[in-house]
Order: sequence, then C-alpha cells, then structure tokens
Amino acid sequence: MLKLRYTLSAFCVMSFAAFAPLSASADEVTLYDKLGGHDGVTEIISDMLDYSLANPRISHIFDNSNIPRLQNLLVEHICSLTDGGCVYTGQDMDKSHAGLGIENKHFNALVEDLQKAMDDNDIPFRTQNKLLAILAPMHGDITKYSDY
Ligand code: HEM
Repeated sequence: MLKLRYTLSAFCVMSFAAFAPLSASADEVTLYDKLGGHDGVTEIISDMLDYSLANPRISHIFDNSNIPRLQNLLVEHICSLTDGGCVYTGQDMDKSHAGLGIENKHFNALVEDLQKAMDDNDIPFRTQNKLLAILAPMHGDITKYSDY
C-alpha cells in the first residue's frame, strides 16, 4: 500500500512537472497584452494614423489609400506579430509598399508617429522598444522600391 502511495505521488509530481510549462505558457502575458490587447492596439494605430495623415513629411504617401482598410490591416498585422492570436490577411510588406516611394526619412517619420501614439497611450518604454524591434527588420522590404 505504502509502495503504491509513493508510486502515485511520484506520478503526480512527474505529471505536474510535465504539464506545468504548458499552463505557464497559457498564462503568459504576450506583447499584444502589454500593448492593451485589441482595444489598446486599435487605439494606438488610430492615433498613429491621425499623426501620420497630418504629418507633412509623409501625409502625401497615403493620398490614394483606403484608410479604414489600412487601419484594420495594421491592427491585424501587429496582433499577429505580437502573439495576439490573429492571422494577418494582408499583402507582404514589399508588395504592399511597392510604388509608394518610401525612403528612410519616411520610415523614420512613421516610427516617430508610432512612438508618439504609444506615449499617448501610456505604453512603457520597454514595451515600446519590443514592438519597434519587431518592426525594424521590415525596413528593407518597405523601402525596397523607393527608386521606382
Ligand atoms: C514597420 C513599418 C510598417 C509596417 C509594419 C506597415 C504595415 C502595413 C500594412 C500591414 C499594410 C497593409 C497591406 C495591404 O494593403 O495588404 C500597409 C500598407 C500601407 N502602408 Fe505600411 N507599414 C509600415 C511602414 C510604412 C511607412 C513608413 C509608410 C509611409 C510613410 C507606409 C504607408 C503605407 C500605405 C500608404 C499603405 C497602403 C497601400 C495601399 O493603399 O494599398 N507604411 N502597411
């Protein structure tokens, strides 16, 4: 009987050890959560677009765009990149920005608008930097066709 109890409790400990990492990852706070989840990211993107559409350095680039569609795709894209569980349904970054003539200076202007939008929404500096680090490598694809 004693032996059975030891065996059972050893099994319980092993089961707990095996499943503990699973439950920890289910409880994990994602970058998407830190950005405020769906409502937070929607607000940040909306504020960023307000800044960019009023920004004389880049507003002209959005002249022929469907802004509500762009807003939805940006929220979906950020959600998918930050473990929010969304599937991004838009185009690749190189295709969607081809022909817009986006140069380094335009990219920097948009990033500054995003930073202002995150400041307005009280996103901590550390969290801001995590999102920017995910977006930074897209620079190459987004500015790829700036000469065309
Ligand atoms: C890391 C930076 C950026 C990300 C993650 C990003 C993301 C996106 C996404 C997800 C779309 C929608 C794609 C689709 O239409 O299927 C899009 C489109 C667009 N982006 Fe960006 N973008 C970035 C930088 C920029 C910059 C720097 C500009 C201009 C200053 C810009 C201007 C536009 C415009 C005008 C469209 C809409 C094109 C159209 O109307 O078809 N983007 N971007």
